[in-house]
Amino acid sequence: MSTPVNLFDYESLARERLSEMAYGYIASGAADEITLRRNRECFDLIRLKPRVLVDVSQVDTRLELLGQTLDFPILLAPCAYHKLFHPEGEVATAHGAEIAGAVFVVGTFSTVAIEEIAQSTAARLWFQLYVNPDRGFTQEMVERAEAAGCQALCITVDTPILGTRDREKRSGFHLPAGMERANLKQLGAETSRAQHHGQGAYSLLDAALTWDKVDSIRSFTKLPVILKGILAPEDARLAVEHGISGILVSNHGGRNLDTVPAAIEALPDVVEAVQGRCPVLLDGGIRRGTDIVKALALGAKAILIGRPYLWGLAADGAEGIARVIQILRAELEAAMRLCGAPRLNQINRNLLWPDR
Ligand SMILES: Cc1cc2nc3c(=O)[nH]c(=O)nc-3n(C[C@H](O)[C@H](O)[C@H](O)COP(=O)(O)O)c2cc1C
Repeated sequence: MSTPVNLFDYESLARERLSEMAYGYIASGAADEITLRRNRECFDLIRLKPRVLVDVSQVDTRLELLGQTLDFPILLAPCAYHKLFHPEGEVATAHGAEIAGAVFVVGTFSTVAIEEIAQSTAARLWFQLYVNPDRGFTQEMVERAEAAGCQALCITVDTPILGTRDREKRSGFHLPAGMERANLKQLGAETSRAQHHGQGAYSLLDAALTWDKVDSIRSFTKLPVILKGILAPEDARLAVEHGISGILVSNHGGRNLDTVPAAIEALPDVVEAVQGRCPVLLDGGIRRGTDIVKALALGAKAILIGRPYLWGLAADGAEGIARVIQILRAELEAAMRLCGAPRLNQINRNLLWPDR
């Protein structure tokens, strides 16, 4: 293929370069993949309403998020097992994030330990927490992430168990020899290398995770806590009541519970419930700069991408990730200019074509 010009080109390159199992792991959604498809379809159906004759010679995508200044509202979502896609794994991802100036949310299930990733990079890191059934270990892991310099803690709350992933089962998904969940090494190989559809998976995720445990994590960390995987406005309201610093509206990229709405469909009610009391982020299906404008118009403060940067990682390592972010950022700037909204605070519902 000639030089990739958009994120879908990177998907094609990743498909060519990866084994069926590794590509299938990225691509897969839960069950019939209805939500997976819907994440994309809903973005396609929203139409923009541009305004003209606005001075768009300067465009500004900077924002303040949880006390941090970001150059643009695109972050890298936590995804497991980067060594499946590149021999350097999360070290390459962090390098790509650093080149592009993006925040990288490192996953609990990274194949390189959080300390090693942090030492390798100047990129801004956040840490995604899968709460472990072992409370002491969970606390240790949070403290390690904090000591390594992570600047926010993103607790994934939509995964008491893994979703039904037919595609992964068919391709015989497994962690290849030499790969492990490096942050879980202290729990022994039975856990750090447990096959995630097997019995061992029960030692990876706390199926009894409830609000009181979230409170207890908040009590021992100084980091701002974001809850990842909220769809119901009722849960968004509870999150605010529990003093959460941010909410990430997400259906886990359509990988957990099939037939839930697209993340972009769930966003407006969550934003309404939160009433500006904490920032609301969104992930799921973002592939174009116009998708970002739509998410921001519906009240998201920033968005995250998952699969697209894994495609970049598989296609061209750190450089591929940096390019994916640069392409998306350039598309966002172009969309803002063409919409007549050169600053993020000018992006609102008036930029969406009304449904009649
Ligand atoms: C291969 C893969 C692995 C993932 N692993 C995790 C994970 O370990 N923890 C987590 O909270 N979310 C995980 N996710 C979900 C992402 O954080 C994110 O919610 C999703 O990918 C966003 O949708 P998108 O891929 O359409 O951008 C994973 C997603 C993918 C594609």
